[in-house]
Amino acid sequence: MNKRILTGDRPTGPLHLGHYVGSLQNRVKLQHEYDTYVLIADVQALTDNFEHPEKLGENIFQVALDYLAVGLDPEKVKFVVQSMVPELAELTIYFMNLVTVATLERNPTVKEEIKQRNFVKGVPVGFWSYPISQAADITIFKADLVPVGEDQLPMIEQAREIVRRFNRLYAKVLVEPRALLGAMARLPGTDGGAKMSKSLGNCIYLGDSSEQVRKRVMSMFTDPTRIHPTDPGHVEGNPVFTYHDVFNPDKAEVEELKERYRKGTVGDVEVKQKLFAALDSFLAPIRERRAEFAAKPKRVHEIIMEGTRKGRAVAQSTMDEVRTAMKIAYKFQ
Ligand code: TRP
Repeated sequence: MNKRILTGDRPTGPLHLGHYVGSLQNRVKLQHEYDTYVLIADVQALTDNFEHPEKLGENIFQVALDYLAVGLDPEKVKFVVQSMVPELAELTIYFMNLVTVATLERNPTVKEEIKQRNFVKGVPVGFWSYPISQAADITIFKADLVPVGEDQLPMIEQAREIVRRFNRLYAKVLVEPRALLGAMARLPGTDGGAKMSKSLGNCIYLGDSSEQVRKRVMSMFTDPTRIHPTDPGHVEGNPVFTYHDVFNPDKAEVEELKERYRKGTVGDVEVKQKLFAALDSFLAPIRERRAEFAAKPKRVHEIIMEGTRKGRAVAQSTMDEVRTAMKIAYKFQ
């Protein structure tokens, strides 16, 4: 039996280059080797969008389009809608007994997210405990590998702890997952901030038009210490060069630009124009495939439903084992 991959995204908007570098690229690369499930995590998205649940349906479609656009093959990869696998909710409840409140309070990613969000009435239990539900996502599929960005490492660690506890307490049913980080753990935002994030408006989306990409690139944050193109500039920590490193396949051009930048013999405009050219040729085929599938919404819906059906079958079979291991598979007839 092939090893499994499970990973996922919250359907709160279209996906961006940060998602690509962190996780999508690995999914595309490994889809032929691993039995791959990709969870469209609408239940998790609800934990901080419960006041606007109507946003989710349309975004499930957008995220599926992004998956297809980057080259996930729907014959291989199962796209699974989280809320349509109620077994996940059941497993989450059982897992709640295996995690302490103190552990949840220490999760650095959740802490950071709570700071960013403005929970006026306090932090909802659902949001605060979503790492438990994410552990259920991963383990119900018995995933061996979880391709994610760096910010998700605490979630994988939480899942591993739960698996160890479960297997020790009940029976060795669950698989301890491993995280797989992307080519770059964290792609900075176009504003030079630590990461791309929709709420910060510093993203380049996979579906952006050429014109949108050009605007984003030409207004990117660069070296703030550099006033004139003849000033020697900094390459390290400069997001324009980070993007060049990741997306410009012409390594010789990148090296030459870096050298000239350090010496003060190239302007930011030229460096950005070359980055735009590289990014646009990377994004052009993605944009094209996205448009092709967007024109066939019925086909996309079928892909989602078929993936969800197969995903649910796996989840149901794991839950049979889980209930048996926990001695709650009662036969009262
Ligand atoms: N928390 C992930 C994110 O914000 C999304 C997600 C939900 C996920 N369930 C998952 C990722 C399971 C990996 C595995 O992007």
